[in-house]
Amino acid sequence: MSGQDREAAPKLRISGLVKRFGSGDRAVTALEGVDLEVGENEFVSIVGASGCGKSTLLSLVAGLEEPSAGTIEVSGREVAGPGRDRGVVFQQATLMPWLTVQQNVEFALRGEPGLTRGDRADRAREFLGLVGLEGFERSYPAQLSGGMQQRVALARSLSYGPDMLLMDEPFGALDALTRRTMQELLLEVWEQHRLTVLLVTHDIDEAVVTSDRVVVMSPRPGRVRRIVDVPIPRPRTLASERTPEFQGLSDGILGLIRDAPHAG
Ligand SMILES: Nc1ncnc2c1ncn2[C@@H]1O[C@H](COP(=O)(O)OP(=O)(O)OP(=O)(O)O)[C@@H](O)[C@H]1O
Ligand SMILES: [Mg+2]
Repeated sequence: MSGQDREAAPKLRISGLVKRFGSGDRAVTALEGVDLEVGENEFVSIVGASGCGKSTLLSLVAGLEEPSAGTIEVSGREVAGPGRDRGVVFQQATLMPWLTVQQNVEFALRGEPGLTRGDRADRAREFLGLVGLEGFERSYPAQLSGGMQQRVALARSLSYGPDMLLMDEPFGALDALTRRTMQELLLEVWEQHRLTVLLVTHDIDEAVVTSDRVVVMSPRPGRVRRIVDVPIPRPRTLASERTPEFQGLSDGILGLIRDAPHAG
């Protein structure tokens, strides 16, 4: 399905993307010629060694950084800055500590045209419910666990209805059990809302269990080294992770990351 969608009209098209930081002797080339297409409603993960440019790539798609060369198109339009068509979730929840959970989500909705105060409140409650935070609307971020804060961040990003979700190690700071719950939550949200997801992660099993395809990047300067299809049927569960097919994919990706400079 996603393959056909991809041919019809890619949601995201990255061509010849180069990103350099600094200049002269101190210049760092973070990305060197990245090409990637992601289909509508596709779930794609990005993995690779630390420093290979994963966060840089995500920031560029989010419009938080500008390419040094090459192009990024979302829905056929070149990215010219951040936009409400793209929701972003980072490793740290970046909530406003002086606002309640409910107010944090409402705040993100302030720019939405045509929403009254009441609409914003309803919408915030709806999405907090979706991520399982009913009853915590009046709590402050500091009163929540890391996983709960990350749920607020997810609710906030989803509340304005982006059709693309960009996530950078969103569960990286969470313990293994909470991480698992969040992965399941993310997959549920993705199944229900059908949006395009780009997930940067260090966790190869997380990439495999969530994704249609896993993009393996080479070490700096980052390029797309290989794109691995994950043909494991959905819904995926703990049981699917114990299959030889899953283990094979996961081991293969680990191998690609480890011997990146040499192999294929
Ligand atoms: N704002 C910046 N200024 C200068 N150099 C930067 C900047 N952001 C990233 N870099 C450099 O670009 C390269 C890629 O960094 P990036 O953060 O994208 O890697 P990453 O793959 O996300 O790593 P990690 O897995 O550790 O998060 C690194 O060498 C980094 O030092
Ligand atoms: Mg990073």
